[in-house]
Amino acid sequence: MWSVVVHGGAGVWSESEKFSAVKDTILKSLEAGASVLRAGGSALDAVVESVMVLEDSGVLNAGVGSYPNLLGEIEMDAGVMDGKSLRAGAVGCIRNVKNPVLAAKLVLEKTDHVLLVGEWASRFALSMGLPALNSDRSKGLLKYRDLVRRFEEGDTRYKSNLALYKQYPHLFHETVGAVALDIEGNLASATSTGGLALKLPGRVGDSPLIGAGTYADSNIAVSATGIGEYIMLLGVGVRASQYAENGLPANTVAEKIIALLTSRFGINSGGLIALDKNGVIGISFNTPGMARGYYSSEMSEPYAMVP
Ligand code: GLY
Repeated sequence: MWSVVVHGGAGVWSESEKFSAVKDTILKSLEAGASVLRAGGSALDAVVESVMVLEDSGVLNAGVGSYPNLLGEIEMDAGVMDGKSLRAGAVGCIRNVKNPVLAAKLVLEKTDHVLLVGEWASRFALSMGLPALNSDRSKGLLKYRDLVRRFEEGDTRYKSNLALYKQYPHLFHETVGAVALDIEGNLASATSTGGLALKLPGRVGDSPLIGAGTYADSNIAVSATGIGEYIMLLGVGVRASQYAENGLPANTVAEKIIALLTSRFGINSGGLIALDKNGVIGISFNTPGMARGYYSSEMSEPYAMVP
């Protein structure tokens, strides 16, 4: 049996005109992971393929679609973990790299480290031949700066968005991730993000922190989305692994983690996808929505839901 679960972030999901593009992206991402798994490929390769589709889409907060920090610069985070070898790779505050998830995989495969950050993470990735972020992005930045200025000035054309933005400043769009189970019974996880909207430059979130936003072992694989600081403080990935080791299935693990997140930090704090060694899927969130989907060898077609 093989299975893949992906998310395109927990959050407010206010722009309904984007829903069908996001749903198509989720379906494409599931198909990308499934084609690796169907051919007998590894869970690790599958989650990376799935996340690359999400990063390249431009409609989610990762890779090409990353939200800029307070200075209008794009700094991204990503992490991958292979449950079979218990090895991981991650990058924090990486710039100018189209697919941070590939950079994270290279850290796993080519170095003795788990996490590279900042300028040297970017230099490492580009030296390994990864493509740079397309310069077209600068148009998006100008638009973004203009939008922020209009928000600050209370532009009435953006009244509803402004109200939402004030209520949920951190959750406009979120993070992408994937977990997979391959036909050998191995699990893997990958998470990638542009981070919180208007974050301070230099801020690193939970996604590249192994044991927080990303984790996989021989029992379970998880990828978190939401306010990274809370996900770190609860050690979500490690906690999920402990729950699974105590025999809980992935659906119960995801529910327990989100119940804990809600009880400690309130609603609108995050979401989680989880997949266990028996193929049980867990999806839980405490936000108004979370783009999500799954596909397995037992299904005739992938399932996606937005928001
Ligand atoms: N969960 C993504 C972040 O906080 O960066």
